[in-house]
Amino acid sequence: MNTAVIYYSLEGNMDLVARKIGENEAVDLFRLIPQKEYPTGKISKYFWGGKSVTFGERPKLTNPTIDLDHYEVLVIGTPIWAGTWTPPLNTFLHDYSITGKKIILTATHLGGGADKCFEKMKDKSQWKYDYWHISV
Ligand SMILES: Cc1cc2nc3c(=O)[nH]c(=O)nc-3n(C[C@H](O)[C@H](O)[C@H](O)COP(=O)(O)O)c2cc1C
Repeated sequence: MNTAVIYYSLEGNMDLVARKIGENEAVDLFRLIPQKEYPTGKISKYFWGGKSVTFGERPKLTNPTIDLDHYEVLVIGTPIWAGTWTPPLNTFLHDYSITGKKIILTATHLGGGADKCFEKMKDKSQWKYDYWHISV
């Protein structure tokens, strides 16, 4: 089945996971890139990333339109920020309809929040999905 991995990564952990999944030839990778990337400074990333997630922002992305018709399976990948998914995923989920796809959620995190994040997604949607998460 054709699979797209649609993901955001600020510091490379989710990118590493996505690339690993992408070693399968039926898999295409789409890394979401905000027009204005978040800073990676030790404090500034928590300040600006935390603010953005708290306010439910939908940052503009630089990605060309993704033709989802081509894919039966979507792997949606995000780092956990403040117990939830990252703002670039908000933009993606707002801009695209993903109904009718098999959804697999995956997240990287420092140890907390993925279960809550996935539960929140489940509550918000009628998706049927599997998930796994990876602590990095
Ligand atoms: C703004 C911000 C908030 C975060 N909040 C959490 C959190 O609630 N729980 C957690 O386990 N890790 C949290 N982290 C850590 C990241 O989820 C973790 O380092 C992740 O692997 C980063 O993925 P990336 O390298 O693809 O950006 C946070 C990181 C940032 C920048």
